[in-house]
Amino acid sequence: MVRPYTHQPVLCQTVAALLVHNPSGIYVDGTVGGGGHAAAILERLDPVGRLIGIDKDTEAVGAAQQRFSREGTQVTLLQGDFRDIQSLLNGIGVEAVDGVLFDLGVSSYQIDTPERGFSYLADGPLDMRMDRSFPVTAREVVNQSTPAVLERILIDYGEERLARPLVRAIVRERQREALTTTGQLVRLIRAVVGHRPLYKTCARVFQALRIAVNDELDGLRLGLAAVLPVLRPGGRFGVISYHSLEDRLVKHWFAQLSRGCTCPPDFPLCVCNQRPVVIVLTKHPIRPTADETRQNPRARSAKLRMVERLPTSTG
Ligand SMILES: C[S@@+](CC[C@H](N)C(=O)[O-])C[C@H]1O[C@@H](n2cnc3c(N)ncnc32)[C@H](O)[C@@H]1O
Repeated sequence: MVRPYTHQPVLCQTVAALLVHNPSGIYVDGTVGGGGHAAAILERLDPVGRLIGIDKDTEAVGAAQQRFSREGTQVTLLQGDFRDIQSLLNGIGVEAVDGVLFDLGVSSYQIDTPERGFSYLADGPLDMRMDRSFPVTAREVVNQSTPAVLERILIDYGEERLARPLVRAIVRERQREALTTTGQLVRLIRAVVGHRPLYKTCARVFQALRIAVNDELDGLRLGLAAVLPVLRPGGRFGVISYHSLEDRLVKHWFAQLSRGCTCPPDFPLCVCNQRPVVIVLTKHPIRPTADETRQNPRARSAKLRMVERLPTSTG
């Protein structure tokens, strides 16, 4: 049975309204998923405007292709990683665009499809790959990483305080038999957490493994840096993040691009020659309203930041 692609886009109209400053422009949704944000962007374009959707996940690209099948050449969908945005765009003859959106993390469709192995609430294979052509799954990460690497993953990507006992339990179990399912991993976590809240630990462990499998933080760093070379002066770049590790990277990158001279204040003349390349449009990140969070609990941790490329900037 083919599962319908369900995902409720977060901050949907807010993002589209901020991003689309020129209705005849070209916009890239770098994480198109089921096309919720893409549809809101498209609604704001005139017949000349164009939308390009990218996703690592072929199932997401397939769902978006179906959703936009009647839009003709106004919508182009590509399978790929947003870190390769420049070569993906060049491949379809596009040099520069007016806006880019990244809506990070996983979609509800991915989480709610047990065969994808993202969920601790349903039993499935330990997979967690967004791009299923990638050779390494969560199964390899859990069964083949050294204890030290596994512990770092749980601490750095999950901020998990029980990392050490969890890794000890994983290593003991995998010496007996390989961990191959999400159910096995949840049973093991249950045994370690004892009286502590099970699902909070599960959420942190699954998040950490997902970030490691998909190399999400390095991917984000590369993706952030890849956008500026394709963004026209006056173009906008928005990112919605869902946890502090992502948001920190986005915040620092935008701050770096918007900073001018970094010479010490007692220097009589500027020697660094750094000029701001963007202005930050969101002094504080935009958060979903209480109403949106009530209707869509997965929106609760979302933060939207957006910048605009300065008209005269180069780089
Ligand atoms: C939160 S969902 C996006 C949902 C989408 N905005 C919508 O309205 O349906 C995140 C999507 O980004 C994709 N993704 C995550 N990292 C990616 C990357 N580095 N390059 C391309 N796609 C990525 C995931 O496969 C997933 O489909």
